[in-house]
Amino acid sequence: MNLILLGPPGAGKGTQAKMIEDALGIVQLSTGDMLRAAVAAGTEVGLKAKAVMERGELVSDDIVIGIISERIDEPDCAGGFILDGFPRTVGQAEALDVLLSDKDKKLNVVIELKVDDEKLVERITGRFTCAKCGEGYHETFKRPAEDDVCDKCGGTEFVRRKDDNEETVRSRLTAYHAQTSPLIGYYGGAGMLRSVDGMADIGVVGGQITEVLNNL
Ligand code: AP5
Repeated sequence: MNLILLGPPGAGKGTQAKMIEDALGIVQLSTGDMLRAAVAAGTEVGLKAKAVMERGELVSDDIVIGIISERIDEPDCAGGFILDGFPRTVGQAEALDVLLSDKDKKLNVVIELKVDDEKLVERITGRFTCAKCGEGYHETFKRPAEDDVCDKCGGTEFVRRKDDNEETVRSRLTAYHAQTSPLIGYYGGAGMLRSVDGMADIGVVGGQITEVLNNL
C-alpha cells in the first residue's frame, strides 16, 4: 500500500504516519525529516535548504523530488510507504505521478487531515520530541507518562524544532494555503482523496484513517 498524508503543518501527519507504520509495517517517508537530516549533516542539499526552512518557505521542487525518487528505490519501500509532507506543490504531485509510473508503482489513496489554523499554531508551538528516538510529544495533548522521560526509549533529553515558533508557523501556513492546498483539488479530481477530521483526539483520527484504509 502506498499512500499520501496531506495536511497543513501540525495537522498530525507525522503522528499518524508513525501509527500506520507500526500497524501496517509500511515505511514513513517524511521530506521534512530528510531535509532536517541533510541540514544537520551539512550536505549540499542541507546547505541549500537551511535558510528556506527557517523562514517557513518551501524548498525547491527539484531538491525534494530528487530526494524522494532515490528514497523510494530503497528496499524497505518495496512493501509500501506513507508520504508525509510530500508532495507539497502541484509540480511535485505531477512529478510523483511520473516517477511512480516509471518505477511501476501506484498510489492507493491520499488522506487529507482537516484542521483549523488556530489549532495548528497551538499544536506546533507545544510540540517537542525525544532527542534519542524521535518520538513526538505535546505539552498538552500528548505528554510522556512520566515527566521528562520518553515513553518509547526512556530517553531524558527532548528537542524542539527551530521552525516551531509562532512567526515561522504563520509563514508555513501561508505557504500551505498558497502552494499545497491546490493538491486537494488535484487528488479530488482524480478520485484519490479521502478527508478525515484532524481536529479529533489522536486515537480518534487514527480510527478514521484505519476505516479509510479498510474500505479501499
Ligand atoms: P515538515 O517537517 O514536513 O513539517 P510540516 O508539514 O510543517 O508538518 P509538521 O511536521 O510540523 O506537522 P505534522 O502534520 O507532522 O504534525 P505532528 O504529527 O508533528 O516540513 C518542514 C519544512 O521542510 C517545510 O516548512 C519546508 O521548508 C520543508 N519541506 C518539507 N517537505 C517539503 C516539500 N515536499 N517541498 C518543499 N519543502 C519541504 O503534530 C504536531 C503536534 O500536534 C505534535 O506535538 C502532536 O503530538 C500533536 N498532535 C498531533 N495530532 C493531534 C491531535 N489529533 N490532537 C491533538 N494534538 C495532536
